[in-house]
Amino acid sequence: MKLFLDTANQAEVEEAVKMGVISGVTTNPSLVAKEGGDYLERVTYFCNLVGGPISVEVLSTDAAGMLQEARELAKLHENIVIKLPITAESLGVIKQLREEGIKTNATLCFSANQAILAARAGATYVSPFVGRLNDIGQDGMVLIEEIRTIYRNFGYNTEIIVASIRNPRQVTEAALIGADIATIPFKVLQQMLNHPQTDLGIAKFEADWANRK
Ligand code: G3P
Repeated sequence: MKLFLDTANQAEVEEAVKMGVISGVTTNPSLVAKEGGDYLERVTYFCNLVGGPISVEVLSTDAAGMLQEARELAKLHENIVIKLPITAESLGVIKQLREEGIKTNATLCFSANQAILAARAGATYVSPFVGRLNDIGQDGMVLIEEIRTIYRNFGYNTEIIVASIRNPRQVTEAALIGADIATIPFKVLQQMLNHPQTDLGIAKFEADWANRK
C-alpha cells in the first residue's frame, strides 16, 4: 500500500519526504486555508519535491467552472491531480478530464455507489472518508471493504485512497483490506513510527554498550 501525506504544510511534507516513505500528497480547501502564503506556488513545490501525485481541489460547484479551474491547475505541473467532490456536476467533468489526460481524485466519497460512479466516470483515484463516517456512527472500514470488492469484481482500475484517517490503526486496517493508498496526517505518520518498546530497546542497547567489559 502506498502512503500519501494529507497536508498543505511545507515543513511536514519536507520531513516526510526525508523519511522516504510517502509517494504523494493530498490537500483540500480546509488544509490549504490553515497555511499562509501562495498555495499554488507551494503545491508546485510539492510536485517537484515529492515526484508523485499532488491532489488539489477545485472550488467551483458548476461543471464549467470546475473544468476551467482543473485545466488551469493541471498546467502548473504534470504531477497535479484534480480533486473534485462526487456530484452530478463533477462526473462529466471527470470523464472529460480523463479524455484530456488530466488525472482526477473523486473526493468526499461516503458510499459504495458513489465509488462506482467515480470509477465509471474514469476517476484516477477515489477518496472514501473513513473518519467522517465513524463520526456519524458508521464503520468507515466497511465502506473500504465494499469498494475494494466491487472494484476487484469488475476490474475497475480507479485507485482507492483511504482518506480522513485519524489514527494509526486505520492505516493497518486499510492495508489489510488491500486499499491502494492511505493518505495520512503527519501526526499519524509519527504515530505509525513511534513505539515505546523501540525507545526502551535503544536505551538498553546504549546502556549495555556503555557498560561493556
Ligand atoms: O483527505 C481528506 C481528509 O483531509 C479529511 O480528513 O480529518 O478532515 O475528516 P478529516
